[in-house]
Amino acid sequence: MKEQLLQIKADAEAKLAAVDGDAALEQVRIEFLGKKGALTAVLRGMGKLTAEERPVIGQLANEIRAAIEEEIAEKKEALKTAALEKRLLEETIDVTAPGTTFPVGRRHPLDQVEQTLCDIFRSMGFTIAEGPEVEYDTYNFQKLNIPENHPARDTQDTFYITDKVLLRSQTSPVQVRVMEKQRPPIRIISPGRVYRSDAVDATHSPMFHQLEGLVVDKGITMGDLKGMLETFARQMFGDSTKLRFRPHHFPFTEPSAEVDVSCFVCGGKGCRVCKNEGWIEILGAGMVHPNVLRGCDIDPEEYSGFAFGMGIERIVMIKYAIDDMRNLYENDLRFLSQF
Ligand code: PHE
Repeated sequence: MKEQLLQIKADAEAKLAAVDGDAALEQVRIEFLGKKGALTAVLRGMGKLTAEERPVIGQLANEIRAAIEEEIAEKKEALKTAALEKRLLEETIDVTAPGTTFPVGRRHPLDQVEQTLCDIFRSMGFTIAEGPEVEYDTYNFQKLNIPENHPARDTQDTFYITDKVLLRSQTSPVQVRVMEKQRPPIRIISPGRVYRSDAVDATHSPMFHQLEGLVVDKGITMGDLKGMLETFARQMFGDSTKLRFRPHHFPFTEPSAEVDVSCFVCGGKGCRVCKNEGWIEILGAGMVHPNVLRGCDIDPEEYSGFAFGMGIERIVMIKYAIDDMRNLYENDLRFLSQF
């Protein structure tokens, strides 16, 4: 019986040596130590032994059981370590390998220029006011001194939702909305989308962007308008930029002017960007018409103000020498990624 036990031990060790996973290990445990295992089978035969032999064999059997149990435990540990090492090896990260680059977007040139404009005016103390794109006829026209049948409506034909509601053709209605709610001093800019019933071509689009400005306070003069616009133009187009005011007509300003900047490419000599003019038209401006102030319950005897408005597309096209406005709306990344 002793030989049998030693044989069991030897067999168990041999099998354990060949074990390569948890399932196989469990198999060995059942085979040798389980209820129907080899060791149990031998112990069942103990009854046939003599009284002297029994304790000797019993002790040997216990020792062998303990030895096999310990070896199984060791094997289990070894398997665990091996599995961990294998995983570490497989999951090694090569920190020198080149990373995956993710494409990063950027702001649209229209948005970039709008931000720059806002920054410049904010630095001069303007705050930003917004108004609706779907606007009342009253705000877009009538309160801006453009009654029905006024010829100025022709140049700003837009899209009508009803007789009285339309897509705003300019950002100027925001002036009125602000003046109705706020008492002077007022100093706001208002960037946003506007609409006109224009066919698409290189310089027209039924939707484009404007930026409006309005200042109302006691004693505001045309000199303030000129000084402020000059400061703006120098920041936007460079320190040596000059301004030129040409008389013009807007129903909601009097006097009114169209304002040009000296060409920032050729300095005024004439080139492709300024079409050999030396000057580039950038905005419309003027002193707020007394009728408009009165309509908003602001006394033109006490207060005066100036307003200006510019097309953001136009500024972008001048700044980057873009000759077709459609490029700004086509979402072609080959074009957009240049800015
Ligand atoms: N709203 C005018 C336009 O769209 C521009 C403008 C704004 C002119 C403010 C004068 C004062 O043509």
